[in-house]
Amino acid sequence: MSVLREDFLWGGAVAANQCEGAWNADGKGPSVPDMCTNGSAKEAKWVTTEIRPDRLYPSHEAIDFYHRYEEDISLFAEMGFRCFRLSINWTRIFPTGMETEPNEKGLEYYDRVFDCCRKYGIEPLVTISHYELPYALVERYNGWESRELIDCYVRYARTLFDRYHGKVKYWLTFNEINSSVVPLGAVVNTGTIRGFEGPVSALPDKKQERFQALHHMFLASALAVKYAHDHYPGLLIGDMNLFSVSYPLSPDPDDVLKNQQNMNMNNWFCSDIQVRGAYPFYAKRFFEENGITIRKEAGDEEILKEGTVDFYTFSYYMSTCITAKNDAAAAGGNIISGVPNPYLKSSDWGWQIDPKGLRFSLNEIYSRYGLPMMVVENGLGAYDQKGEDGVVHDSYRIDYLRQHIEQMKEAVRDGVDLMGYTPWGCIDLVSATTGEMAKRYGFIYVNKFDDGTGDLTREKKESFWWYQKVIRSNGEEL
Ligand code: BG6
Repeated sequence: MSVLREDFLWGGAVAANQCEGAWNADGKGPSVPDMCTNGSAKEAKWVTTEIRPDRLYPSHEAIDFYHRYEEDISLFAEMGFRCFRLSINWTRIFPTGMETEPNEKGLEYYDRVFDCCRKYGIEPLVTISHYELPYALVERYNGWESRELIDCYVRYARTLFDRYHGKVKYWLTFNEINSSVVPLGAVVNTGTIRGFEGPVSALPDKKQERFQALHHMFLASALAVKYAHDHYPGLLIGDMNLFSVSYPLSPDPDDVLKNQQNMNMNNWFCSDIQVRGAYPFYAKRFFEENGITIRKEAGDEEILKEGTVDFYTFSYYMSTCITAKNDAAAAGGNIISGVPNPYLKSSDWGWQIDPKGLRFSLNEIYSRYGLPMMVVENGLGAYDQKGEDGVVHDSYRIDYLRQHIEQMKEAVRDGVDLMGYTPWGCIDLVSATTGEMAKRYGFIYVNKFDDGTGDLTREKKESFWWYQKVIRSNGEEL
């Protein structure tokens, strides 16, 4: 008997804008990431208001999954995937986000992708919106700041449910919705960047806009969930959070309290609304102290109540520490972060590696909500080098994943209900925060480099064979 359930959803995860490429093929419109240049660990990527011929836009070709999905999914099948988390590029279906009729060519493309998954017995897990807002909605409405976007999103989500309900059972409404609480969230999630051109590190911190935008995203998510439940009762719809678990840097009660506030607004705020159906009590004081006033309409509260999710999902890469001392140096991290933890080592991008934090997080989340959970992103972004035999021997990645799976199993022994695990970037793809190719996560190496060169061929890394063994043994052979 294995620790994990027999139908455990082993797989991997990608996002359309980071892998598909074909950014303007078959009627697709530009999305926010299509306006983002490449950057690096040291130099922030830019958002531009127009495509600049002298800049490189990594999403435009990415790894060309658009044309190579059959080969890629067959490799996933060879590893034994039972699940593949992917997202739909909103602008393939509604190029500006404002059309009333969808683009049939875009719909047909995802039909082919889902059919290919099904051919191999792979269950698709679909993120409706993964950092891929139509750029036209930024120009016209300043993104989610406008209530108009609710209708645009609901039209898009309904189109997807109506078309694919027979092929896709598991859905997530927004990727890492809580990244919207920090300034970078304006680019990746809320799209509240009208007229902004410059490095993403220079984004102004417009909390009022982002929290208003979030209110609209909560409503849109709830309406989509309700529509799916009313029309297709077999579907399961989840939320998706960037779980950036934090510990108090010291037992100083000031650090402990500060960490509690941090956990509330950064990690729990969005899921409290999406799981429990109402704004949590602690938001009131945060809004008051930050000069935020959310414009709501009659009926909004009912909508939130009626559209709660069926399961909870999250990304987990790292943990961080929080202190009340203002002069503490910041740690690197995945969008939301704090200060360094003296007990942990970091990745080459400064993300603090903490497998036990995953066990801790799973327990915390499960005791709060009691819903089935899924880890839909986890992994090590690293510089990969080929060995003399031409193969990437990524023992560092295997170690990272092994330690996290061990802790996942510990959490299951603790009693949490875990449905599955889809490590991030199961095939190398463009980094979301830096736009690099050099930050690789995959079990499959892609010959594509930061300067845009490379023949895009796919090669198995050592971790490919390791993960195949893990899945075959349902997590017993690590
Ligand atoms: C998550 C995102 O924040 O982390 C992904 O959902 C992203 O889109 C992943 O790629 C890893 O981050 P990065 O910056 O290393 O690509």
